[in-house]
Amino acid sequence: MIATDKKSAMASLNEEIAECAGCELSATRTRTVPGEGRFDAEIAFIGEAPGYYEDQQGRPFVGPAGQFLDQLLGSIGLRRPDVFIGNVIKCRPPQNQDPLPHQIRACENWLQRQLEIIEPKLVVTLGRYSMAKFFPGQSISRIHGQVRRVGELLVVPMYHPAAALHQGSLRRTIEDDFKKLPPVLKSALEEKKEPALETQQMKLF
Ligand code: URA
Repeated sequence: MIATDKKSAMASLNEEIAECAGCELSATRTRTVPGEGRFDAEIAFIGEAPGYYEDQQGRPFVGPAGQFLDQLLGSIGLRRPDVFIGNVIKCRPPQNQDPLPHQIRACENWLQRQLEIIEPKLVVTLGRYSMAKFFPGQSISRIHGQVRRVGELLVVPMYHPAAALHQGSLRRTIEDDFKKLPPVLKSALEEKKEPALETQQMKLF
């Protein structure tokens, strides 16, 4: 898909998301939070679900976890407009509860379609719900920071930035995992396969 088509495909997808009544979260949300950034980004960061501030503003990662995400991006020379940032769930679960399986299923199609439009080279999952989309049944403590191939995509699972805010020892881990991204992206862009890459052929979602 060429860039202008991607732009309009993303704009109409966002309109569809804004109308979504696929689960009960549509009744309690202030706004949908479809995600933002480049519609043709090489790298997409996928978090869990909007929190209070995101629900108010309709933008992903604008609260404390988002400030840390901005720092992490900055540490590898990236800014928000360079990447796509989205979530598994597009509406805030009340009291920031963990997303429920039926809510994740109701939102599944949105993330799938976003990734089909963006066609990123690299997806970074933030937190276990996002990781589970690509690596069901895996443990984040075991696979964080590792690059894996899922179909055409390279996927790097990471801890959620909010986890670092609540658990200081994870801060260093996430910072170190982020530092691995530039060479992975470079090699993805050169379409070289990482020699140490663990290959997993999986259907997305
Ligand atoms: N946490 C997430 O997973 N996503 C957001 O957008 C904000 C906080």
